[in-house]
Amino acid sequence: MRIAPDELPERARAVLPGGNTRSTVFVPPHPPYAVAGEGCVVTDAQGHRVYDCNNNYTSLLHGHARREIVEVATETLARGSAFGLPTESEIELAELLRDRTGLTRWRFCNSGTEAVMMAVRVARAVTERSRIIRFEASYHGTYDGVVAASATGVPGAVEEQSVILPQADGAAFDAAMRQHGHEVAAVLIDLMPNRAGLRPVPRDFVDHVRARTREYGSLLVVDEVITFRLGVGGLRQRYGVAADLTTLGKVIGGGFPVGAVGGSVDVMKAFDPLGDGVVSWGGTFSANPVSMRAGATALRLYGKSEVDRLNALGDRLRQELADSGLPVSGFGSLIRLLVDDPTVTWWALYREGVLAGTNGLLALSTAMTDDDVTEIGTRVRAAARAST
Ligand SMILES: Cc1ncc(COP(=O)(O)O)c(C=O)c1O
Repeated sequence: MRIAPDELPERARAVLPGGNTRSTVFVPPHPPYAVAGEGCVVTDAQGHRVYDCNNNYTSLLHGHARREIVEVATETLARGSAFGLPTESEIELAELLRDRTGLTRWRFCNSGTEAVMMAVRVARAVTERSRIIRFEASYHGTYDGVVAASATGVPGAVEEQSVILPQADGAAFDAAMRQHGHEVAAVLIDLMPNRAGLRPVPRDFVDHVRARTREYGSLLVVDEVITFRLGVGGLRQRYGVAADLTTLGKVIGGGFPVGAVGGSVDVMKAFDPLGDGVVSWGGTFSANPVSMRAGATALRLYGKSEVDRLNALGDRLRQELADSGLPVSGFGSLIRLLVDDPTVTWWALYREGVLAGTNGLLALSTAMTDDDVTEIGTRVRAAARAST
């Protein structure tokens, strides 16, 4: 069937509010429609080809249609996409995650949002407390309990359970712990929060939070939904900080829907149906074998040398952009262009043939060569000139 590109936004507006079903991919007046992806290139419905530096919001480690992932997903699908029984695939992915992170117990779900919901639930169950401390502008998905305090549609009673503190402010953190510490179930932290500027949180602050949470009996939840790609065992491993729980998503599904919570035996036993079973959590598609096996394949193809190569490519691109006078932040394969008008920049990049995140986030993939990254840098600079 031929797609009539000009009709798509109109058809969408007739059935989806504002033509949109995913707030994070909306750019006014309406985004282009993707038709296909191959390696690091996406083709849209107009036939325009762009370097994919969005990679479905950082989740596609290997770009599009990586042969090994297509093969495993197709083969798995042909034997059944989901069952009312567990499959070996969930054990396999949990073993891989254990080996990479050192966290010994895992539980799967379908998104990063759900992983955060599960982590908060289990932290509250284990500590028998309800408050959560989190940090301003850090994004943890769309669950009521972790969105901005000003978000409409969230009951005041939910909002009151959160204490939202400035990023990396030791004094504010200590004051909040003195006031609420004995009621705090968990401190939720992203070590390089994208929406707060994609800057690594200072190590001494993270160590301080770890020490204080231990002192007050609160759990430390490290949200690695976006940062897991930065190290074999995530960014947390580079910090050398121990987490009571970690939340993952995105890259561990090999391009398919996924989320996971990992933690120590002591904390995660709250999910154990043979134990107290205090936390019951279902999910019709949780741990479906297509996501599990595609995810395991993607991770196997992303060992230390691939992680290092991709991070080095990102470091080079970030440095080159900074040397050209562009304000940039990030670490390794994640780069953020710190722009005044993200929409203008997004379209300028797109016209130059670079697909970015709507806030200027660039995520590289292993499908990119050195030359691709050089070319991306040239195009980003051209877009920056065009948008000023
Ligand atoms: C740090 C972090 N946590 C949680 C989420 C939510 O993940 P998902 O979009 O899969 O629900 C995101 C999504 O970008 C994220 O960046």
